[in-house]
Amino acid sequence: MRVLVIGGGQNAEHEVSLASAAAVAEALRAGGHEVSEVTISREGLWEAAGVTEGATVAASLTLAMPLVAAADVVFPAVHGALGEDGVLAALCALAGVRVVGSGPRAGAIGMDKWATKLVAEAAGLRTARGRLIDAADCGDSEFEGPVVVKPVSAGSSYGVSLVRSEQELAPALREAARFDRRILVEEVVHGREIDVAVIKQGGRVRWAAPPLEIHAAGLFDTAMKYDGSAQFTVPAQLSADETTSITRAALTMFDALGCAGVARMDFFLTADGPVLNEVNTMPGLTAASQVPRMFAAADVSYVDLVSRLVRAAEVPGR
Ligand SMILES: Nc1ncnc2c1ncn2[C@@H]1O[C@H](COP(=O)(O)OP(=O)(O)O)[C@@H](O)[C@H]1O
Ligand SMILES: [Mg+2]
Repeated sequence: MRVLVIGGGQNAEHEVSLASAAAVAEALRAGGHEVSEVTISREGLWEAAGVTEGATVAASLTLAMPLVAAADVVFPAVHGALGEDGVLAALCALAGVRVVGSGPRAGAIGMDKWATKLVAEAAGLRTARGRLIDAADCGDSEFEGPVVVKPVSAGSSYGVSLVRSEQELAPALREAARFDRRILVEEVVHGREIDVAVIKQGGRVRWAAPPLEIHAAGLFDTAMKYDGSAQFTVPAQLSADETTSITRAALTMFDALGCAGVARMDFFLTADGPVLNEVNTMPGLTAASQVPRMFAAADVSYVDLVSRLVRAAEVPGR
């Protein structure tokens, strides 16, 4: 198949998205697909061979559209805002082109940690208690005990802080506000960090790979995510009951959002069972990222995984 892989993007996760896209493109070529690549610069310019440099954002998109039109499938390996949030899936929906992963609705809700909570609670899952504040009201916020402060919509732990004392609250709110005007102030959840990857390979069949445990002393922060120091155990050492409850919760969330392709559901496993932390509808996809590692534990190689995702691609909304 002719696959257009999109990387980069206009948010703090630009570099991570470049790494995911490069790895996906290489694996697709190894799997026998005909691959072309386009990068969205931090400023929003679509850059590829044949797309004029120095064009405006709108003009570069116009020049890139023939690449989208010529593809059998688009693989939008762009994490975060203006990518994972459903925007690229929406572009493909309008163009009538098959796209890997979730459609616009699941992408948009999954990218919004507040909306995700509302859906999760409605579907019977537990989440961290939290309140939403506007960046303009940060000054009125009082310290009421340890909390986690985070942007409603971001990723790679950018803008996420653990606040243990009154003095730490204001700087944490300011840091979160760099990434989103909407800020979440959450109770601190104590539990093991367990991720579950769910894949839908066409039709109604979807299944979860063996869960992965992240060993982080404190927050799983940006540095730990990308400096190679992150320690994972796959499969996570869980009892049969724990595996069942966390996997069931991940599938419930996947269905509630109407996800497609692959999504990574991140949980805290507490003494009272799983608590959903967040949903990633375009999770990190280098071979060393959590999702490919979980599928490797299910005997699905990286090349096989990306090929399955391409085969499962659909035009959103059809
Ligand atoms: N309510 C919470 N309680 C305890 N730790 C948290 C909480 N929220 C986030 N964390 C920690 O911060 C990390 C990043 O937060 P997360 O919400 O996953 O943001 P991102 O989308 O940037 O990954 C998590 O992996 C976890 O280690
Ligand atoms: Mg996270």
